[in-house]
Amino acid sequence: MRIIITGGAGFIGSAVIRHLIKNSDHDIINIDKLTYAGNLESLKEVSAHQRYHFIHADICDSVAMHQAFETHKPDVVMHLAAESHVDRSIEGPAAFMEANIIGTYTLLETARKYWLTLNDNGKHVFRFHHISTDEVYGSLGETGLFTERSPYDPSSPYSASKASSDHLVRAWHRTYGLPVVVTNCSNNYGPYQFPEKLIPLMILNARTGKPLPVYGKGNQIRDWLYVEDHARALCKVVFEGQVGETYNIGGHNEKTNLDVVRTLCAILDDLLPNHPNGITKYEQLIKYVTDRPGHDMRYAIDASKIQNQLGWKPEETFESGIRKTVEWYLANGAWVEHITSGEYRHWLEKNYSQRTEMA
Ligand code: NAD
Ligand code: DAU
Repeated sequence: MRIIITGGAGFIGSAVIRHLIKNSDHDIINIDKLTYAGNLESLKEVSAHQRYHFIHADICDSVAMHQAFETHKPDVVMHLAAESHVDRSIEGPAAFMEANIIGTYTLLETARKYWLTLNDNGKHVFRFHHISTDEVYGSLGETGLFTERSPYDPSSPYSASKASSDHLVRAWHRTYGLPVVVTNCSNNYGPYQFPEKLIPLMILNARTGKPLPVYGKGNQIRDWLYVEDHARALCKVVFEGQVGETYNIGGHNEKTNLDVVRTLCAILDDLLPNHPNGITKYEQLIKYVTDRPGHDMRYAIDASKIQNQLGWKPEETFESGIRKTVEWYLANGAWVEHITSGEYRHWLEKNYSQRTEMA
């Protein structure tokens, strides 16, 4: 098959491409705008492969999208390209509306027009897989899990833009018959994640003796999934999922943010016993700072549909995955150095200078 993957230079997209190049015979066409979060170095183990192709383009550019579809004639589209960081969406929502809503619309229209030109078999085989988030469901209380039937209730500009894109995808299925599948996944972690996100940010700050900024009391809960388990789940859904269906994906790993940060500190105490700046334990770097506005309290996924219908379940435990992740960041200083551009440093300074330390 020929598979277009949008956002393939990002954290999850690059994991999907590495997985597909290594474990399938499919041709992969990566379409990525290379925003601050996109980095072709994440693909260096597969980019010389003859089945890998790269198109540097914006998904909002309909001419470029039509050209890509006409040239590569995809059987499958896996749509991951998006602005993905909640704090940035609060600071500047416009880029999120553009990439996540207009970008998804542009891609859907391109896919629909292309799909109409296919013969019956081509139309039947074609899939548009939209990769989305559990954040569209809003926040859970102390109990309960998000299922595929949970009502949409997004809190941030990011999650509202992803909710909009999910609605567009389902509308293109109901109205035009475009064969779509949608997945909504919980928090991913693992190698190659941009260090604005909780886990890599904490690892890299701790390593250099910088403060570990925990929002509010750190008692919010996220359900963590190792990125390679997500990549395997996405391949299950795109090749075996039912058209028109939604599948929730999650790791059964509910942790408070504070527990995650303390776990990272304990692993670092073990791996890097020469502590910086006169501290004796990395936990001493924890600082409680102003909370994120509209901060969702708890996410947790009921992944029984994908497990029962498609036979997927996570292979990595949180304990093994988090240790591998810390080891990867410590061993890949050059990757981190190359992606942390001036723009990124400016963002970090701005984000954290606006947060005051709390008792
Ligand atoms: P990321 O920010 O690491 O990567 C996003 C990629 O999309 C980058 O390579 C970027 O250059 C590209 N991109 C952004 N705007 C583009 C545009 N207009 N045109 C072309 N390319 C563009 O994101 P990620 O964490 O890998 O997330 C990928 C997808 O998975 C997103 O749709 C996100 O909403 C979803 N998701 C993420 C998580 C998570 O925990 N990270 C969980 C569930 C769902
Ligand atoms: O649930 C899926 C979502 O997970 C994805 O859709 C998003 O693309 C992805 O970014 C992630 O969103 P979160 O907001 O949950 O991830 P983040 O790593 O930004 O934050 C995780 C938790 O840690 C959250 O409760 C906020 C908190 N946090 C985050 C940062 C960056 C801190 O306490 N301090 C920090 O410095």
